[in-house]
Amino acid sequence: MKVTVLGAAGGIGQALALLLKTQLPSGAKLSLYDIAPVTPGVAVDLSHIPTDVEVKGFAGEDPTLALEGADVVLISAGVARKPGMDRSDLFNINAGIVANLVGKCAQTCPKALIGVITNPVNTTVAIAAEVLKKAGVYDKNRLFGVTTLDVIRSETFVAEAKGLNVDQVKVNVIGGHSGVTILPLLSQVDSVEFSSAEVVALTDRIQNAGTEVVEAKAGGGSATLSMGQAACRFGLSLVRGLQGEANVVECAYVDGGSEHAKFFAQPVLLGKNGVEQVLPYGELSAFETQARDEMLATLIADIDLGVEFVK
Ligand SMILES: NC(=O)c1ccc[n+]([C@@H]2O[C@H](COP(=O)([O-])OP(=O)(O)OC[C@H]3O[C@@H](n4cnc5c(N)ncnc54)[C@H](O)[C@@H]3O)[C@@H](O)[C@H]2O)c1
Repeated sequence: MKVTVLGAAGGIGQALALLLKTQLPSGAKLSLYDIAPVTPGVAVDLSHIPTDVEVKGFAGEDPTLALEGADVVLISAGVARKPGMDRSDLFNINAGIVANLVGKCAQTCPKALIGVITNPVNTTVAIAAEVLKKAGVYDKNRLFGVTTLDVIRSETFVAEAKGLNVDQVKVNVIGGHSGVTILPLLSQVDSVEFSSAEVVALTDRIQNAGTEVVEAKAGGGSATLSMGQAACRFGLSLVRGLQGEANVVECAYVDGGSEHAKFFAQPVLLGKNGVEQVLPYGELSAFETQARDEMLATLIADIDLGVEFVK
């Protein structure tokens, strides 16, 4: 099992690489790539941690060596937000980076499962799909926008608000990964009742949690450590699915035949081919139905921007 991280010298990349080095199954290989010259050094540093996971680091303009034989590729290469920016402000730089890296995946590891972390995810995943289509290797079951951070934030904030053990709290988050397109399904959280005011306040906090971090870091970037944890959880779930484990379910932004938009985040069953089944997201409250319907124009425009970019 080989996992490759593209953007591995960055804030997310290094946190993710550390967690993967300590949590990937025994015998797995971890491959790190970034344009930053420090990347082989990050790999040497990690290699001193005593786990049975071999780490190699590659820097420079060409990720090919890092991608050879990859089963899973996680992409966090790009620029992050500064205060006053929203995720769409990153489009101009990150669109080209994702298109280029996914093009290399298409050439080198066309069967790999690809998880896109680089923002704006609503758009970069559409870009990745178009690049893979152009290369003739697109398989919708193998491409994912990583929205796990929205899930772990929702679970943390609900547990905090209700004084619960966070291990017992499970929240599905549907839609996309920015602003109003992030929709936590609070009405479905087991054995918890929320007042209407609580639903509004919690939904708003979850949708703007990224900005909470951007502002607190005051120009030093966006979420990296919590995102590293979220990406590790998602990457390990992809690996567990590939290894044939049953009942591995995560919310992710996928091309899953949604009636709402070409790409839509919802729970998916993971397996040996990536997405085994897109699962229904269940019944929504009136608040959630309205929020879902109102987000669609934004989400569809974000997706169209990615399709147009590649055209
Ligand atoms: N999906 C999510 O929930 C989520 C959450 C937080 C941040 N993000 C996004 O993740 C991305 C990375 O964030 P970060 O905080 O790690 O940023 P960062 O600036 O710390 O790291 C980005 C890394 O990408 C590298 N890079 C740039 N161009 C590259 C290329 N062509 N090939 C390989 N590597 C390249 C840089 O050298 C840098 O090391 C940003 O786009 C950010 O918005 C996503």
